[in-house]
Amino acid sequence: MSLAAVVELYRASTLGERRPIEERERLVAMLRHANLVITAWEGDQLVGLARSFSDFAYCTYLSDLAVRVSHQRRGIGRELIRQTQHHGGRAQIILLAAPRAVDYYPRLGFRHHPQAWLLGPDDPLA
Ligand SMILES: CC(C)(COP(=O)(O)OP(=O)(O)OC[C@H]1O[C@@H](n2cnc3c(N)ncnc32)[C@H](O)[C@@H]1OP(=O)(O)O)[C@@H](O)C(=O)NCCC(=O)NCCS
Repeated sequence: MSLAAVVELYRASTLGERRPIEERERLVAMLRHANLVITAWEGDQLVGLARSFSDFAYCTYLSDLAVRVSHQRRGIGRELIRQTQHHGGRAQIILLAAPRAVDYYPRLGFRHHPQAWLLGPDDPLA
């Protein structure tokens, strides 16, 4: 799977609007260090991707879920999550929903957690 194919998918799914796809080095690192990546293909076209980090025992952080707009609402996203859950062993999946996907995850059975916290790379640690 080439970097260009991933960038193209991120654009074609709209996820590219919220991921640093113009920053090549950062994107390369994002792909190199993810340790649970599930992909969906139609022929040789990449149509969906779930990019996660898992310890395969306790937690899986699902960072990016993207399905090409032309292929959405066919169950591909659900299957990508199913495979991510399956390959994560006993890990629970944790994620942040994009604004357009806030109604998606509860529909699939995800529980909302009101105590999630974020600290950005440049946020001062008090
Ligand atoms: C969110 C996304 C991954 C969903 O993928 P998908 O393949 O279209 O989803 P599925 O076909 O598996 O949908 C499963 C169910 O959720 C519903 N659904 C799909 N997108 C939804 C949305 N945005 N809001 C609410 N429900 C949605 C489907 O209709 C389907 O319902 P059904 O089982 O009753 O038919 C896809 O729309 C996408 O890539 N969006 C842009 C990028 C993005 O926002 N990613 C999430 C980052 S957190």
